[in-house]
Amino acid sequence: MEDLGYYNGRIGRLQDMSVPFLDRGHFFGDGVYEVTLARNYIIYALREHIDRLYRSAAAIDINIPLSKDELAQLLSKLVKMLDYPDQLVYFQVTRGTGVRGHAYSDDMRGNLWVSLTHGQPKDIHKKINAITAHDTRWHHCNIKSLNLIPNVMYAQNAKNAEAYETILHRDGMVTECSHSNVHIINQRGHFQTHPTDELILDGIARRHLIRACHELGINVVEEPFTLDEMMSAKEILTSSSTAFCYICDQINGQAVGGKATDIAELLRDTVIKYFIDATGGT
Ligand code: PDD
Repeated sequence: MEDLGYYNGRIGRLQDMSVPFLDRGHFFGDGVYEVTLARNYIIYALREHIDRLYRSAAAIDINIPLSKDELAQLLSKLVKMLDYPDQLVYFQVTRGTGVRGHAYSDDMRGNLWVSLTHGQPKDIHKKINAITAHDTRWHHCNIKSLNLIPNVMYAQNAKNAEAYETILHRDGMVTECSHSNVHIINQRGHFQTHPTDELILDGIARRHLIRACHELGINVVEEPFTLDEMMSAKEILTSSSTAFCYICDQINGQAVGGKATDIAELLRDTVIKYFIDATGGT
């Protein structure tokens, strides 16, 4: 198949798929989701993504209708139905189906959606630029919810400014970006990143960067940093499951970073190697 859509057991080409009008995802964005890449028909970090999906679902009382193992088996089977090995693997569970009403019935059963399309890590060696904005989102950013209107607007504003990302801050303390986490190599040469509280998503690529730091002997500091500390940091890095790790060299039109290029590139190349090794090697 050229692409694939799955909805509660139905499978088809994406453009041929339709879903029930009363799926609560349409009314309230009432659902949780995950995104990762497959390479050589192997889904990268699948267990970590599934674990987070279940954590997000549990946090907002969504009932996922299959076990973690069943979901892993299903996704691994679906990716093999495509004509090409490198894919963007997207899956979401919405709360269920019912006439619109904010509160839901106790017996709601989640709806599973999957979309598989072409996907590869993008331009892994490029340097990116970013803009900054106030983080006006809710206080549950640890839940990977479908409610992404602020993130959509932040991403669009970045695009309009010909930037890759919008870096967000609350009262001058940097949190994360519209669709990535953000980290710095601070003045002491340590990898500094916002702690995983309710203000950021506990990113899988962020976890992999921390693992890389431990393996490479780079100190990790899980403490918030200010905009000023970021602007004068040795390096600024963003991370996500579709781009792994980008080095940022410009923020709001000002040159930044570039003072610990070896460390930044080593970290980036290490997390890319994790991906290659876990998905069948070279
Ligand atoms: N976004 N923070 C936000 C707000 C995100 O949306 C993402 C991922 C991340 C990075 O998380 P991870 O390393 O697990 O991908 C952080 C995905 C790629 C998306 O929504 O498409």
